[in-house]
Formats: sequence, structure tokens, C-alpha cells
Amino acid sequence: TTPALIDSFARQLTYLRLSITDFCNFRCEYCLPDGYQGKRSTDELSVAEIEVLVQAFARLGTKKVRITGGEPSIRRDVCEIVERVAGTRGIETVAMTSNGYKLGKHVRGWQAAGLNQLNISMDSFDAKVFASMTGMDTLPQLLRDMDMLLDSTDIKLKINSVLMSETVEQNLMDALDYVKTRPVSYRFIEFMQTSDNSELFFAQHAQSTQVTAYLQQLGWQALPRATASGPAVEYTHPDYLGRIGVIAPYAAHFCDNCNRLRVSCHGKVHLCLFDQGSFDIRDYLHNQDVSGLIAELQRLMPIKPAHHHLHEHNSGIMDNLSLIGG
Ligand code: GTP
Ligand code: 5AD
Ligand code: SF4
Repeated sequence: TTPALIDSFARQLTYLRLSITDFCNFRCEYCLPDGYQGKRSTDELSVAEIEVLVQAFARLGTKKVRITGGEPSIRRDVCEIVERVAGTRGIETVAMTSNGYKLGKHVRGWQAAGLNQLNISMDSFDAKVFASMTGMDTLPQLLRDMDMLLDSTDIKLKINSVLMSETVEQNLMDALDYVKTRPVSYRFIEFMQTSDNSELFFAQHAQSTQVTAYLQQLGWQALPRATASGPAVEYTHPDYLGRIGVIAPYAAHFCDNCNRLRVSCHGKVHLCLFDQGSFDIRDYLHNQDVSGLIAELQRLMPIKPAHHHLHEHNSGIMDNLSLIGG
């Protein structure tokens, strides 16, 4: 059998985050710059290329694949992609991160294709605030669609919300209400600086300790983090069905047990979210060269960085997260 992907810090990489498009139909203010006019790429990875990619990763021990974007659901063949990934021997979990646009229309197809987990971006429970943050007035529909998902599918749902100092208090109150009766995890993500959002970053960045201190006061308990779990720390309370999570790249140091690699929709490997370097593997995909790709991925292992550098130079290394889907 093929040896697993293990980097020079003894971290085993079992989780692939695959961006299938860099185009998004939303305009979240923390993500894309004002007036952004992205054009959809014409050379996104094909289903056949994705199949080769996931086969190589699976043979190297990848168990979980998260499909991201941009917005993955804008691809017409998203169900086919989910189905192929889910059908790859060795892949146990298929997840997706989406902005939830027309979720109600898509979700049955995704479930049938084999999707296990879905993370939806929902930064506010207030329709006006949601609209001003994302450029879309779709919150009421999204709330209905998520309830439908919870009632009629077994897809595990998490919600992402970027922590903004202006809205965090109201948002936390609303989130507590929401998770009281719903089995979902609502996660506050510390706003990360990119070169596209510096002004907003300095105006609105807040530390997640504001959230965690309040939760602890109310008797919420942090769950111990399993090894090989993602960056989120989750809090539970006996009176609540759901959880509150916190993703804190600034306050917490979760890189020690990083388990992930990223591939962009153009077939570039990113060894870390904020790493500048990327490695083109498209030829292997194009040539259906699984063993060549396996050897190339193993060659990259010694140079996976120890951690991100968000703390050190707050200069915004990356353009924005829409390229690689967080
Ligand atoms: P699961 O653990 O599989 O649920 O995934 P996740 O929570 O990592 O996935 P999701 O796509 O919902 O990401 C939520 C947020 O966490 C995004 O804003 C990501 O940018 C951030 N994030 C995810 N992984 C990393 C990471 O390795 N480093 C940093 N700094 N942020 C990350
Ligand atoms: N900081 C933190 N999270 C971000 N996201 C996008 N840009 C940023 C940023 N600058 C989040 C979105 C989405 C996920 C894919 O990434 O809210 O939930
Ligand atoms: Fe918003 Fe995600 Fe689209 Fe960025 S990629 S604009 S965070 S929905």
C-alpha cells in the first residue's frame, strides 16, 4: 500500500479542501473588494480531472473531502462531482461549504449524490444586516431552506459567521436562540486580514474571547478537541440542542494538528491557507497519472509550513478567500 501523507511536523494529512470554482455570486464585504467584477474561469477542473485527483489523495490516506469555491453550487455538475468523490474508495466523508443560495432547490440532489456535511455562511440573523454584508437579500429564504434541510435530510449542518465587532453582541444572542432547538453548530470565525479587506479589517476585527467569555458565564462548556479535528472549538450546554463554535486563527493556535491540504479550481496545491506558494499538479490530472501525482504530493510534504503567519505580518498576504474557499 501507498504510505500516508505525513509532513515534517509529523502531521498526517487526511483532509482535502478542493475548490471547484473561484467565482461567487455573493459579494461579502469581508471577502471581496468593493466593486469586484469577477469573471467565471473557463478552465476549472473537469469532473474527470477531479476523479484522478481524489483517487490519488484517497490512496494517500485522505478520508474527508470538502468541496469549496468561490461558490461551489454555481457549477452545473456539482452533483456529479459529489457523487464521484463519495464513490471513491477510501473517502468516508464528503462535505461542502456554500453560501446557501437556492439551497432548497439543491439540497435533495446533494443528499442523493452522497453529501454528508454542509457548512453554510450566514453572518447575521437580521435580514438587513445580512443584505448589507453579502449584497443578497436572501436571508428569509435561507432560514426556511435550512429548516427544511434539518427536517428532511440527514446532512450534518454547520453555520459560519464572520465575527465583526459591530454585530457580534446581537448575533450571539440570536445564535443562542437559534441553536436552542436546532441540532446545528453556529461558528464565529475571527475575521482574517487579506489584501482586499484591510480597511474593514481594522474597523471591525474583534477577538473571539468576547464570545467565549460570555458563553462560559452562561455555563457553556468547551468540548475537548479531538486530534485531527478542524480549527473550531465547540461549546455545549445541556439546555441547548445545538452548539456554538469558535474559529480563532488569531486567539488560538490550531496549526499544531493541521490535517489539511488545499487544491484550487485550477489544479494548484496550497500547503497552507495563507501560504504564498502553490504547486501546479494539473498535468498529472490531465494525463490521468495517479502514480505520478502520488509521488509529487509526497515530494511536497517536507515543505508544508508549520503554521500561518497571520500574527506576524498583518499585511494581508492573500488577495481574498474566494480563491481557495477558506
Ligand atoms: P470542518 O472542520 O470540516 O467542518 O471544516 P471547517 O470548519 O474548517 O470548514 P469551513 O469551510 O466551514 O471553514 C470555516 C472557516 O474556517 C473558514 O473561514 C476558513 O477560512 C477557516 N479555516 C478553515 N481551515 C483553516 C485553516 O487551516 N487555517 C485557518 N487560518 N483558517 C481555516
Ligand atoms: N475572514 C474570515 N472568514 C472569512 N470567510 C471569507 N473571508 C473571510 C475572512 N477574511 C469565510 C466565509 C465562509 C468561509 C468559506 O470563509 O464566511 O464561511
Ligand atoms: Fe461570501 Fe463565500 Fe462568496 Fe466570499 S466566497 S463572497 S465569503 S459567499
